[in-house]
Amino acid sequence: MTAKRLLLLGPPGAGKGTQAANLIKLLGIPQISTGDMLREAVASGTPLGLSAKAQMDAGQLVSDEIVIGIARDRLLKDDAKRGFILDGFPRTVVQAEALDELLEQSGVSLELCVSLTVDEEELVERLLKRAEIEGRSDDNEETIRTRMSEYRAKTEPLTRYYDKKGTLREVNGLGLVHEVADRVEKAIGGRP
Ligand code: AP5
Ligand code: MG
Repeated sequence: MTAKRLLLLGPPGAGKGTQAANLIKLLGIPQISTGDMLREAVASGTPLGLSAKAQMDAGQLVSDEIVIGIARDRLLKDDAKRGFILDGFPRTVVQAEALDELLEQSGVSLELCVSLTVDEEELVERLLKRAEIEGRSDDNEETIRTRMSEYRAKTEPLTRYYDKKGTLREVNGLGLVHEVADRVEKAIGGRP
């Protein structure tokens, strides 16, 4: 059976968004990226965007309260009933517990956490290259360093959280995009 309630975990630049794009096509379920939703809120100048902007530009995590709120609203939409690919949420143990509780209220649970592993040198190289192409405001050396340390301190502990539940699958995120995609497909139980 192919898992359809998925979390892609990994440091900045690991390929969460890139691999989510592949899984959307493969599984026909939505990607839920709190980073994308926050960037949209910043771009349209909503109160939520205004309150998150400074932390995002500094590479720090936005408050649990804010992101749990936006993730909850998105997960409750109809299209997420068939499954979802979480990208960038949860990122703290508090968020992971809130997610478990929310899913439990709907009578489901997260099936798998796919953790993409990539060494830091490659991550920085990818993000600096993307900075030239897309100009994302948090893709600069100083902010990338803060994002990495936020990841290590607050998000990496989630690998133990999901390992304890038996739902962690580590996937080597190095190599060509399609090579990583093949490994991710295998980790989630193959094509549906
Ligand atoms: P978010 O948008 O989630 O950013 P991130 O975690 O820093 O990750 P990226 O989007 O940079 O990397 P990715 O893993 O998606 O890699 P991608 O596929 O793009 O969060 C941004 C900010 O929002 C946070 O810092 C925080 O402030 C806030 N936020 C969001 N969620 C939050 C939460 N839950 N709690 C609190 N705050 C939150 O790939 C990167 C680049 O590499 C691309 O150019 C891509 O083309 C390239 N690439 C991908 N795969 C490969 C490959 N195999 N080989 C070579 N290049 C590749
Ligand atoms: Mg991303």
